[in-house]
Amino acid sequence: MQVVRKPQGSVVIIGAGTQGRRLAYMWSSKGGTVALVDLQEQQLRDGLQYVQQLREEAKDHDGDWGAVEVSQPAALESTLKDAWLVVECVPENLKLKQKVITQLDDLAPERTIIASNSSSYGIFEILEGLNLKNNKRVMSAHCYWPPETSAIEIMGHKDSDPKLIDLVLEQCKEHGFSPFHVRQPSIGYIYNRIWAAIKRETLLTLSEGVATPKEIDAIFKDVLKTPKGPCEQMDVVGLDVVLDIENHYAESRNGIPTEPRDYLQNMIQGGHLGVKNGQGFYDYDQER
Ligand SMILES: NC(=O)c1ccc[n+]([C@@H]2O[C@H](COP(=O)([O-])OP(=O)(O)OC[C@H]3O[C@@H](n4cnc5c(N)ncnc54)[C@H](O)[C@@H]3O)[C@@H](O)[C@H]2O)c1
Repeated sequence: MQVVRKPQGSVVIIGAGTQGRRLAYMWSSKGGTVALVDLQEQQLRDGLQYVQQLREEAKDHDGDWGAVEVSQPAALESTLKDAWLVVECVPENLKLKQKVITQLDDLAPERTIIASNSSSYGIFEILEGLNLKNNKRVMSAHCYWPPETSAIEIMGHKDSDPKLIDLVLEQCKEHGFSPFHVRQPSIGYIYNRIWAAIKRETLLTLSEGVATPKEIDAIFKDVLKTPKGPCEQMDVVGLDVVLDIENHYAESRNGIPTEPRDYLQNMIQGGHLGVKNGQGFYDYDQER
């Protein structure tokens, strides 16, 4: 059992979008200071408002909220001076992630842990080809949506410092997350890999004409007692996003069947993107 040191200092979140603002709430929920950094003023304003809204909804909280400060990327070096942890939450673009991680490694003090919230790119992929000063302190810290999902997956890489992984796992627990250690480099972490297999097999089942989306969702919900079936869930995520994710698995691994991607591609070409455009496996315009 490793001894975990109590971290001193603030948590800096880079990107105040969907996930960044939610992380600002979590990391300030036990009295710690958070600095939220974004290129866009409006995102910072909306982010603060969202943190306030989540606080008002947290009925059982003891009132010991930490400060959430906002900051511009131009002031990053001074914002990072006091940080024990910095989490990048910028959009899902590998080159941008690599640029931000390199910048953080360059500007953050030696003791600061650097984490990425990327869903698609494991930290081992982000670090590929980068020449960082200290990559031992870099890891993935991937959380989910909606905010009431407490799971967070912590994944290191071959050179990670295990003491720092333990520290982040411990601190996530302290801050109301349910942390899971991804023990080996894994595209899709733990949960998303299992979910990818369900999506893939659902699409294969559909492509073979074995059952309709409605039947697949009905049997899935009947057996597993979940509120949504895989077709309903894929519609919520967006079929174009589902295809991007599946393409990433297919690029990184052998043996991924082509039929599920072909099936999705046909749907997308036919204008079926899911809930966001009213047409997916189901017709949402008709329901409205
Ligand atoms: N949205 C989700 O449900 C979800 C779930 C799990 C993980 N993630 C991951 O979280 C990350 C962020 O996703 P999101 O949905 O919050 O994105 P988002 O588009 O909502 O927010 C990204 C923010 O980053 C800002 N930004 C861009 N470049 C920047 C820079 N150089 N410096 C500072 N700010 C910058 C943008 O202005 C924007 O406000 C992605 O890696 C994504 O895979 C998202």
